[in-house]
Amino acid sequence: MPIEIVLSMANSDTEWEKIGGSEPYWGVLTTEEYKRKNLTPASRQEFFNSGEEYVKQIFEIISSYIDRDFNPSLGIDFGCGVGRIAIPLSKRCKQVIGVDVSPSMVAEAKRNCVLFNITNIDFVDDLSKIKQKVDFINTVLVLQHIETNRGTNIIEDFVEKLTPSGIACIQVPYSIERSPIKSVLKSIVDKSSLAQKMYNIMMKKDVNAPIIMMNDYDITRILKLLAKKNINKIFILTEKYDKNSRVFNASLFIKK
Ligand SMILES: C[S@@+](CC[C@H](N)C(=O)[O-])C[C@H]1O[C@@H](n2cnc3c(N)ncnc32)[C@H](O)[C@@H]1O
Repeated sequence: MPIEIVLSMANSDTEWEKIGGSEPYWGVLTTEEYKRKNLTPASRQEFFNSGEEYVKQIFEIISSYIDRDFNPSLGIDFGCGVGRIAIPLSKRCKQVIGVDVSPSMVAEAKRNCVLFNITNIDFVDDLSKIKQKVDFINTVLVLQHIETNRGTNIIEDFVEKLTPSGIACIQVPYSIERSPIKSVLKSIVDKSSLAQKMYNIMMKKDVNAPIIMMNDYDITRILKLLAKKNINKIFILTEKYDKNSRVFNASLFIKK
């Protein structure tokens, strides 16, 4: 076994490209109906309807609690996947930038833009490529899949990228319930690509099958970080607890 394979860290970016290339819709919403073999025009429509509904809800919250006249010009959807959120967002912003680390996800998102006749979304693979300030940033179902130190730095970058009256809607899991055995297993698998391969063999999967990391964040650390950036007004929406997923999610609406 080459030493670099033994020592190399598990990397969520390469895992996402594997998912983007094989099961991009299921990678976003992991139910059987969104596997390629099961996708129908109706289920595809349902997939995008869920994005429309999400965008409608967050704009209602912004208008009710944060800024009644919010009318963003440039918006970012961080971790845009196949465009489920970026496409409806493009109807509320003059321009949208979808950020996604997986080229295959972006390729599918571009195909969907053509399908829906959307011409005001650009795509980049990294937040650092966006040089201008933006009015709105959204991220949902993304940070949980990113290692928490990196994810916390990304939240800090969001704040830097916002215009003086900009708003961000950041969904972040603040607790994931796991059995002690699963916690130990996760800490090993997350740290080594060799452990990932062994885990896949143990689970009787393809040795290189993608593994989606699930992380919960220290909410106190995030609030402290926001306070240090002079963000003192935060609207927090906690999501309904789902005993099957055991993930406690919060959406932080922040205004600069
Ligand atoms: C579960 S999908 C969610 C997609 C989209 N937010 C939605 O709700 O429809 C997660 C997406 O985040 C992307 N992603 C993961 N890590 C990322 C990173 N560090 N930078 C940008 N995108 C990332 C993945 O490639 C994937 O497309």
